[in-house]
Amino acid sequence: MDIPGISPDLQRRLADGMARVDATLRDAVRHEDEFIREASSHLLNAGGKRVRPLLTLLAAEVGEGINDDVVTAAAAVELTHLASLYHDDVMDDADVRRGSPSANAKYDNSTAILVGDLLFGKASELVADLGAEAVRIQARTFVRLCAGQIRDDRPHPGDADPVEYYLQILADKTGSLIATAARYGAMFSGCDERTVGLLREYGERVGVTFQLADDLIDVASDADAMGKLPGTDLREGKRTLPVLYALASNDPADARLQQLLRSDLALDDAAHAEALGLLRDHPAMRAAEERTEAVARSAREALEPLPDGEVKQALSAFAALIVSRVG
Ligand code: IPE
Ligand code: IPE
Ligand code: MG
Ligand code: MG
Ligand code: MG
Repeated sequence: MDIPGISPDLQRRLADGMARVDATLRDAVRHEDEFIREASSHLLNAGGKRVRPLLTLLAAEVGEGINDDVVTAAAAVELTHLASLYHDDVMDDADVRRGSPSANAKYDNSTAILVGDLLFGKASELVADLGAEAVRIQARTFVRLCAGQIRDDRPHPGDADPVEYYLQILADKTGSLIATAARYGAMFSGCDERTVGLLREYGERVGVTFQLADDLIDVASDADAMGKLPGTDLREGKRTLPVLYALASNDPADARLQQLLRSDLALDDAAHAEALGLLRDHPAMRAAEERTEAVARSAREALEPLPDGEVKQALSAFAALIVSRVG
């Protein structure tokens, strides 16, 4: 991901840092067993945007810059993310990831789950080199991520406000790790407590923005841009923000879409395609985009106490980039 408006110098420092992160990741998926090596490097080889390690590197620029610990932390965050993707594709019954067959499709569910666990073990091994506080943060982050994923996979409790409940799930399943990505970058580059806290809050809001945008992309983007199959959330009956908004409409013209959204779209390809088409053109999409933009703005506002300069600007541009992406 190219952050617009940054100087060639900062660009080069981030690219150098990312090359070191990538080398650490390659190293982490080495294994003497050929099958384990292949299955655990499968998604790493397939690509990925590296949003989280990029944020760790960028947050380190707020402090004294990228160093060995920052690189280790960035790689550990990406490995944790990678582990969650192996598991997520089992949960979501997804066939395509990063433009390649998902691990569950290529191998089977058990392999995908166990490789995810193995990668999480590798992430923990890296974090162990960063000290007890980093381990505690990593552990709490993973608990939150898993709690969010568990709730995402279950029906809404009847008494909770659906939009607030959904936003809390996003904060847990996605905000938690992106918050930790930013927090580690600040922590390991010598930032003071207050700055670490501020970047953590910024990361959490960027994370919610990121998942809101991901949910919109699932409806609006095509498979090439996404590297995933569009409409996966609808097929799985996920009530993402545009779906919640469309369901809340009182306009009689929305009756057909609402009927489709309440039906089981996993079993009926024609109904799934119809629902996806209707939702794409529905004003609920624009309303959900506006909400996403508002969360991105609140992420940028969290940066206000930082001294003005190139890094603050880059962090602000990063939050904007998260909203405007299509894949
Ligand atoms: C996908 O994350 C899972 C979400 C939290 C939405 P990314 O969109 O960062 O996936 P990669 O790493 O680029 O493949
Ligand atoms: C996944 O959310 C969140 C985590 C992996 C924690 P999604 O299920 O929307 O992610 P994609 O769209 O499959 O990448
Ligand atoms: Mg998924
Ligand atoms: Mg999911
Ligand atoms: Mg998604």
